[in-house]
Amino acid sequence: MAPVEVYKPKNIIVSGGARGIGRALVRHFLEARHRVYIFDIQEDELEYTTKTHLKKYHDEGKVASAVCNLRDVQDIRSTVAKAAEFFDGHIDVLVNNASIASPYWKDGKTMEDAATLDEWQAFIETNLTSPFATSQACIPYMKARQGDATTGAHLGDGAGPCILHIGSFRAHQSDPNQEGYAASKSGQLGLMHSMAISLGALGIRVNLVAPGRIKGAHESREGDEDGGNWESQVSQKDVDDHPTNRAGSPKDIADACLYLMDAGFVTGQDITVDGGALRKKN
Ligand SMILES: NC(=O)c1ccc[n+]([C@@H]2O[C@H](COP(=O)([O-])OP(=O)(O)OC[C@H]3O[C@@H](n4cnc5c(N)ncnc54)[C@H](O)[C@@H]3O)[C@@H](O)[C@H]2O)c1
Repeated sequence: MAPVEVYKPKNIIVSGGARGIGRALVRHFLEARHRVYIFDIQEDELEYTTKTHLKKYHDEGKVASAVCNLRDVQDIRSTVAKAAEFFDGHIDVLVNNASIASPYWKDGKTMEDAATLDEWQAFIETNLTSPFATSQACIPYMKARQGDATTGAHLGDGAGPCILHIGSFRAHQSDPNQEGYAASKSGQLGLMHSMAISLGALGIRVNLVAPGRIKGAHESREGDEDGGNWESQVSQKDVDDHPTNRAGSPKDIADACLYLMDAGFVTGQDITVDGGALRKKN
């Protein structure tokens, strides 16, 4: 008789989980009976998300959060240590979701404007350096087994620990004036596949989920208070642009993450969740 599989909740860190896609990821992971620790820089939104939007899970001790500026490596390291304490010393999954998510230079600037250099640094630090530094800080709490660092072996059952980077279809396709965002997001691809090869020795898989255009403004305090929803943000163009005949929702990104967490033979992959838009000729 086949052994009965015992469901094991995972301990998951989500960066940038106060609002947007990140908030939806947190909620879907909790609904799937995992435990979640959220990092975000927006203190009020984070407090609301943790204690009001996710009250039921907070009261049950399934979710906690901390304010963290992901452009500050010391802050990252001390916040990862707090998360590890919440998880009794073991982290199964890190989702590097936080980002400067608007792809354009601010105020209609182009790269000819010298002032974009500061924005360039912000894109690279937030979208590329922070996933590296957060992953680095999590490794000691994620290794499949203590001995794996020296033996390189990962012979256990199950999918093991994993790191998921939330990238973007903008790693492959640009509109004008997106150099900082596009460079940071295509940099994440190189980070992902290099980490997948290096961390294989520790039993840690590494993959990337690249959203296409995802309507996520309703995933916020303002959205909750105004009764906002996903449907009201979708136009006919959003439907027509996608071979899937519908617009993208944050749940589509959560579904991809949940798949990858349990996909024990998948590492080093970039999964684009864009309704087929990148494949479609305009
Ligand atoms: N929404 C889309 O259409 C879309 C498309 C492609 C890729 N993405 C990617 O999906 C992810 C989520 O995007 P979103 O649309 O939900 O964005 P969002 O702006 O709604 O949320 C980003 C979150 O990251 C947090 N954050 C930003 N800088 C931070 C910092 N220094 N320290 C800590 N937290 C910080 C913000 O406070 C916010 O809660 C991002 O990686 C984005 O690049 C989104």
